[in-house]
Amino acid sequence: MNTTVRRFAKQSEASLAAGEFITETCRKAIEARGIFSLVLAGGNTPRLLYQLLGAPPLCDRIDWQKTCFFWGDERCVPLDHPDSNYAMCRSTLFAVTLPPEQNIYRIRGEVQPPEKAAALYEESLRSFFGVSEEPPATSTAFDLVLLGMGKDGHTASLFPGSSGMLNSDRYVMATCNHFAAPDVPRVTMTPFILNQARNICFLISGQEKGQIMQNILENHDEAAAKYPAALIRPLNEGELIWFFSEHS
Ligand code: 6PG
Repeated sequence: MNTTVRRFAKQSEASLAAGEFITETCRKAIEARGIFSLVLAGGNTPRLLYQLLGAPPLCDRIDWQKTCFFWGDERCVPLDHPDSNYAMCRSTLFAVTLPPEQNIYRIRGEVQPPEKAAALYEESLRSFFGVSEEPPATSTAFDLVLLGMGKDGHTASLFPGSSGMLNSDRYVMATCNHFAAPDVPRVTMTPFILNQARNICFLISGQEKGQIMQNILENHDEAAAKYPAALIRPLNEGELIWFFSEHS
């Protein structure tokens, strides 16, 4: 694993750098394997990044026909709900160019109960990677996973204290955390599948998150006991890149 920290004064600069990294990784993946699998983050921080990716010049560098979009987590709300991570992407990343429907692997957060939504997503991931055996195989490497991080060190919907999920060999699980905003049930990918990615990028901003990042970098074992984000790093010779901006 190779770790890089890219520091910026402003979130706009970090978002542009992340966008350029994503489009370059897209080009290389399609050149090498004919497809680019991209896992998107939720929350508010990536909004500007998605707007940049969904508009020229960056959108012209994405092969939308050969890029498959996934989500690291989703809130269990209707897909047009303001808290839906998919809805945020639909109004930013996909505002101008909507990929082919078969390239959008959406977590169906509207399906109840959340455990069923998680099982459906797990099946769609197994189908995408062409694996079906139990327990999940380990030949499931996304080309790039984009993640945010909360001020408690959570990432995707992997919250502190959810050890059962953090150590699971499932790809996807249902969860909830009443201290999270919004306080709704969620479906999340697990470290098991996230860590198989070729590239993992965190896009974060602000001093509080910067201190958690620094703790993870300098005291990983101690941080891993507190912050789920510390558990997310490529298993193999993958790249881990922090795009950090001092100011939001
Ligand atoms: C979610 C996200 C979550 C997010 C962090 C940071 O669905 O809420 O996946 O992990 O990345 O909570 O959120 P902000 O970018 O809004 O600070």
